[in-house]
Amino acid sequence: MSIKEKLISDNIPKHVAIIMDGNGRWARQRGNDRTFGHEHGVESVRSAVEGARELGIKYLTLYAFSTENWNRPKEEVNALMALLVHAITEETDKLNENNVRLRVIGDVESLPGEVQKKLNGSIDRLADNEDLTLILALSYSSRWEMTDAMKKVAAKVEQGALKADEITEETFQAHLNTASYPDPELMIRTSGEQRISNFLLWQIAYAELYFTPTLWPDFRKENLFDAIYEFQQRERRFGKTSEQINEENAQKA
Ligand code: FPP
Repeated sequence: MSIKEKLISDNIPKHVAIIMDGNGRWARQRGNDRTFGHEHGVESVRSAVEGARELGIKYLTLYAFSTENWNRPKEEVNALMALLVHAITEETDKLNENNVRLRVIGDVESLPGEVQKKLNGSIDRLADNEDLTLILALSYSSRWEMTDAMKKVAAKVEQGALKADEITEETFQAHLNTASYPDPELMIRTSGEQRISNFLLWQIAYAELYFTPTLWPDFRKENLFDAIYEFQQRERRFGKTSEQINEENAQKA
């Protein structure tokens, strides 16, 4: 029996987030420059999207370019931006055929004009698709996102539209870039690193974390199925006891 067949269909996470890591190392292992790894990483994105659709995952968020990635050598940043434009151009038709909607989180305005234009064109074209929402985190970092949300909330207080003591978790959440998406139940990081690196810090409060040594260019949908399988073996308690969870499950059954 394949791992996919072992998955319990009514316990598939709605939202999975992935930190795609290891492109540089993958390329270096092959005596190539880092960009070679990023290029091969696009095939992994394709396979992960396909796998997510097959399982009925509704939201897939990919950490494609962090705020901190701007500090990489200029040539690598340029190559990544060019790759993005190329990938969006090449993949939009296929995403559309597969009923995939595209969204972006991050400081989009800091991206080169051409990237913004391509992204916006593709986002508009895929806007009505419903099977899967593919969310690209670009020029994104969680601290940037939270600071931005804080400014927006503070502005409302300043304008008198909101009182400081009325601010709730929901108020803050509603001002995040991810306001219209559910929190991820599962976060995956490839390449053996076990860090979150400023990704969706607010949203992963209760997420399961899954780390795999597989380098991103080697990642395929079967690796996603492995992660979901592991997710299904875990008990998510949300601060409650095992006994309470078992009782709730028995009532649901
Ligand atoms: C991390 O590997 C990867 C990135 C910073 C970029 C990810 C980009 C892609 C997979 C290509 C384009 C994406 C889309 C959505 C079409 P790393 O360079 O940090 O690797 P290292 O840790 O081995 O150096």
